[in-house]
This record gives sequence, C-alpha cells and structure tokens, in this order.
Amino acid sequence: MVIETTLPGWLPDLDGTIVGGDLLRGWALSEVWRIRLDGATRKSVIVKRGIGELAGEAQRYDELVVPLGIAVPRLLAEDGSGVIVLEDLGGDNLEDRPTAEGYEQAVRVLARMRIESALRLAADPALAAGLRRSTADLLAVAARAATAMTALRPDLAGAIDDPIRVMTHRLEQLSSEPETIVHGDFQAKNLLHTQGGGIVTIDWSDAYVHPHLGDLYLLLREGRKQGRIASARMDALPALFAHEVGTDPQIVIDRMVTGGLCWTMSALRWVVETGVHAVPVSREWIDELVTDLRGLAEHHQSR
Ligand SMILES: Nc1ncnc2c1ncn2[C@@H]1O[C@H](COP(=O)(O)OP(=O)(O)OP(=O)(O)O)[C@@H](O)[C@H]1O
Ligand SMILES: [Mg+2]
Repeated sequence: MVIETTLPGWLPDLDGTIVGGDLLRGWALSEVWRIRLDGATRKSVIVKRGIGELAGEAQRYDELVVPLGIAVPRLLAEDGSGVIVLEDLGGDNLEDRPTAEGYEQAVRVLARMRIESALRLAADPALAAGLRRSTADLLAVAARAATAMTALRPDLAGAIDDPIRVMTHRLEQLSSEPETIVHGDFQAKNLLHTQGGGIVTIDWSDAYVHPHLGDLYLLLREGRKQGRIASARMDALPALFAHEVGTDPQIVIDRMVTGGLCWTMSALRWVVETGVHAVPVSREWIDELVTDLRGLAEHHQSR
C-alpha cells in the first residue's frame, strides 16, 4: 500500500529537488520511502532508515554484496547512521504480485548467487572477514534465544534443547562445506520483479557468510504460508535448486533443514530479545517458531 504523507525530517540531501514522497513501508524499526525528484538524473530514489540491528545494510553492501558482485539496486549514498539511498527499481515485489515463475526465478537467482559467491569467498579469505559466521556464532544465537525465551515464557523452558542439540550436530557436519552468501531474509517481500521478467534481491541488513541453505527454507516457508502459488510448483523448488547447482536433491533438503534451524533460531532470538519490545504482536510468533524448530529437529538426516 502506498500512503501519501508528510516527508520525514531525516531525509538526506538528494541529487535534485524533492517534489514528493510515498511511504512504502513503515514500522517501529524501519521506514522506506520512494522520493520523487525533479531536475536530477533520476526521477525517484528509495530512501531507507533502519534502526538498531536494521542499520547494518550499508555495511553489508560495502563489505559483502558489492565485492561479491551480486545484482542489487545500486547504493547511491549512505550517511553512516542507518539512512541509505538506493536506486529505485520500480516494480512490484513477489509478495504483492506472487507468480510461480517469479518463485522459480528467485530460486535460480539464489543458486547463481551462491555458486558465484562461494568461488569469490574461497579465492579471497579477507573478503567479508567480519561477516563470516562460525558454528560457535550460530550456536551463540541459539543460546541467547533459549535464555531470553525462558525468561519471557517459563512454560517453554527446555522446549528448544533438542533443536539446539540437532543444530549443533548438523552445523558440525556442514563446517567443511564451502562458505557462501546467506541473505538471511530471503522471502517474497524482499524479491522485486524487474522489467525484463527477472528477480532482484533487496533488503540486505541480515546477510552474512555461511554454507547453510536457510534462504531456500524461508522462501518456501513464507510462500507456502501465503498460499497463492499452486503447491506442486512450490514443492518442486528444492529440486529446481538442486538442478541449478548440480547437486543431489536430498543434499539440498538436508541443507535446508540445517538452514531452517539457523534461520528460525535467529528469528526467535530477535523476537524474544527485541521484537516483543518494539513490535508487541511478535510475542504471538513464539509458539509457532518453537513448533517449527521442533519439527525441523525431528527431520531424518540423509547421511
Ligand atoms: N530499490 C528499490 N526499488 C524499488 N522498490 C523498493 C526498493 N527497495 C525497497 N523497495 C520496496 O519497499 C519495500 C520495503 O523495502 P525493504 O524490504 O528494503 O524494507 P524493510 O523495512 O526491511 O521491509 P520489511 O521489514 O517489511 O522486509 C519492498 O518490499 C519493495 O516493495
Ligand atoms: Mg524487506
């Protein structure tokens, strides 16, 4: 939904005269505006302000996304305090206009981005050094999730002990695999249709480096929840990914389960440490995230 409203006071200087703006997304920790310009090279730009943990998008652009050569809207300016100016790609996102072809294209984009990033990261160990995550880093997130969840919901004490055990074992197995890019919030609302029928990934504030396949897990989780694509087309996406990267579909499912545990622990950590204070409704997501973790932990391992 586009809401015409008064422009925010924190807008940076832009190349041209501002003639108007539309709030594209606004919630407690982030605001996204399309600012219309006159007399400049561009008719509009996207200006985004992230607060707290969401202020890290410029760093991800500089240290990860741009050096890895990933196709993204260009970062035109950053002010060092969480406000970034991005090229406006126009176009709907895949959540507002869900198509099976868009989901399939997103899977191809993910496959290509992971293959290319793995090569570049292997060739240059200094690249994205501060954004490479270890098994210990991911398990620390899980431990924080358990602690804050138990403080908030004593009835759930011990509920994610099994998932943490399984995650530990699975991450150890994955630790010898090549590192690659993890977007961290790879779902339809963060995928834009381009004019040529392609898909471009936006919203990089959660990105880091690790082999797990939580991105494909989340694309399917949210896509199935939205329920606007025929389930047979959604079900075929892991096999499509396997085909694109040239690997065994069973290995893809396995990586998705490990990645699903990582993504869900991270989402739960966010809800119980930050979300419940910033976005009170997020308290209602806790039970579902715990159920998901327990389901993922029960998944049979293929090797
Ligand atoms: N560069 C861009 N070009 C065109 N549209 C954009 C661009 N960046 C963002 N948008 C639009 O604004 C919406 C919100 O952007 P973004 O996902 O970056 O913000 P967010 O606050 O992190 O949102 P959310 O938390 O809901 O994911 C996107 O879904 C997309 O429709
Ligand atoms: Mg987003």
